[in-house]
Amino acid sequence: MSVKKIKRISYIQRCKAHGEHKGKKITMLTCYDHTFAKLINRTDIDMVLIGDSLGSVILGYDDTTKVRMRDMVYHTRAVAPAITRACVCVDMPFMSYSSTPQALRNAKRLMQAGAHAVKLEGGEQVCEQVKAIVDVGVPVLGHLGFTPQSVHALGGFVIQGKTEEVQTKILQDALALQAAGAFAIILELMPSALAATITSELRIPTIGIGAGAHCDGQVLVLYDMLGCDADFSPKFLKKYARLSDTILGAINAFNAEVRSGVYPDDAHSYD
Ligand code: KIV
Repeated sequence: MSVKKIKRISYIQRCKAHGEHKGKKITMLTCYDHTFAKLINRTDIDMVLIGDSLGSVILGYDDTTKVRMRDMVYHTRAVAPAITRACVCVDMPFMSYSSTPQALRNAKRLMQAGAHAVKLEGGEQVCEQVKAIVDVGVPVLGHLGFTPQSVHALGGFVIQGKTEEVQTKILQDALALQAAGAFAIILELMPSALAATITSELRIPTIGIGAGAHCDGQVLVLYDMLGCDADFSPKFLKKYARLSDTILGAINAFNAEVRSGVYPDDAHSYD
């Protein structure tokens, strides 16, 4: 029987707190399907996030408010079996944790689909749900700053924490999530200085996206960092590949070769 050596939550926390991994930056990427999951599993990435960004990246929704529990369960079932090293964290989608009983029910569904931890967006207003989920033994990842499920209330894809009042609120929310038992917090789209302050105030690690270099780790959407969409280039995004060019080249080559009769040739045909 093969035993999975999954990076545990305590490993992620030791990257910040103490022990041999102190100061080692945490790495996290989103993943939505089995083929990419197998590739990520060949790397040393610490955490895989089955993010509700799959709503826009995979399902073509215009924002994450359209994502349902069954979408998250479906993609978790595709990704989780391929991951034998990283910690698999799954987003609880829009309004799937509005009350504590509902949050517990839905966290259970995600864990039974293969998650090791769940992620909720929001601060003090979700702390009761966070504590209840943690109390039944499910690790919770928080998410503050720009929280995509509130895109309409936040006025679009905009940097958060520009005023002192909002900065104080985000810090308070981070401390409340830590007190409720969250094991780490994602900080999205905020000034680096604010993320640095939050990171130094917390015992638990922060994982940034568009939040500068001072977080304890970084997360990116896999398809974004692979450059699958040439038109999506926010300032924080570094593209480590230009897959849109590679993919278009391959599709155009196939199209041309079939039309001209070059493919399939003898080497690609059976006797
Ligand atoms: O859904 C997602 O992919 C996320 C990341 C952007 C952090 O929440």
